[in-house]
Amino acid sequence: MASLTSRPIRLRRNRDNRHIRELTRAVRLHREQFIQPLFVVEGLAEREAVPGLRDVYRDTPSSLLRQIEWDLERGISKFLLFGVPRHKMEPTRDLGVSHAFTSARIADIRSRFGDAVWLAADVCLCSYTTHGHCGILTDGRDHLDNDVTVAALAQAALQFAHAGADCVAPSDMQDGRVGAIRAGLDGAGFERRAIMSYTAKFHSAFYGPFRLAADSAPDRAYPLKDRATYQIDPGRPDDALLAAQRDAAEGADILMVKPGLPYLDVLARLSAAIPLPWAVYQTSGEQAGIDVLAAQNLADPVRAQLETWTAFVRAGAQMIISYAARRAPLYLDQQVGQQ
Ligand code: PBG
Ligand code: ZN
Repeated sequence: MASLTSRPIRLRRNRDNRHIRELTRAVRLHREQFIQPLFVVEGLAEREAVPGLRDVYRDTPSSLLRQIEWDLERGISKFLLFGVPRHKMEPTRDLGVSHAFTSARIADIRSRFGDAVWLAADVCLCSYTTHGHCGILTDGRDHLDNDVTVAALAQAALQFAHAGADCVAPSDMQDGRVGAIRAGLDGAGFERRAIMSYTAKFHSAFYGPFRLAADSAPDRAYPLKDRATYQIDPGRPDDALLAAQRDAAEGADILMVKPGLPYLDVLARLSAAIPLPWAVYQTSGEQAGIDVLAAQNLADPVRAQLETWTAFVRAGAQMIISYAARRAPLYLDQQVGQQ
């Protein structure tokens, strides 16, 4: 053992050059593992940029199809669609919102691209309601009515499946929605359509640009001010574990942690505990942080982006929902050339 202590252990040999670093790397990224979010907005004359996010738009129905074509040409074929209707309403137990606009966009995508794309549809009500909450309020308007909301979400999921979605992704955070959606889909013959559950979705400050894009910020004039009574508290990782166990038992096919970087510990722990495929959602606020650093020349955009994505895979994610997914093929090619 004397020789070991007298000579330094040369860990740097495996860092010495690009070739050995490529050979020894344990965590690798592939373009196949990315999902690109899309926003489609009813009644827009032209598509609009989303504030704070590079290369992300609020699309019109026709610009949406052009964007998907562009993405497909570059090797991105999985999408998460958010539909934003023109008219908002305050739904009740008896009067639901219409999902006609979003369903029609799903049908458009399916008829235009067939099985060349994998399409997940976000299932929530916050873009559809006047108050911007993710469901239906109680009479006092100070709380979301869990079970009434779940019934409305199951209806939406069924319509999106009818329209041709491969996957429905409930992001509302009510209890029991995965089971209700699964039962609804199976009852209508959609046993092969998947559910990706926003299982570990935290009450986060990193959702800012999204709420502009989806026109879904809670209206502070209502008694219910924010999403703290339904999204998970950042200080309660066990709540996320319980939610994941529950969603797995209710039949979720894919589980998600959201946001990504602030919750890597949750992703690592939950993905080790539950052997379902795990997604991570690098949220709009996280992305804007990277884009602002890069725009101010304070970080290299390619290296910063790849470093965060590597962290997600290292922590146990199989798939990454990222606003920069459409730049992933380019970035991964650049990585190969890196010294
Ligand atoms: C709400 C929803 C949110 C996101 C997707 N669906 C968050 C929220 O408004 O609470 C976040 C996405 C992002 O920031 O990128 N159902
Ligand atoms: Zn919502």
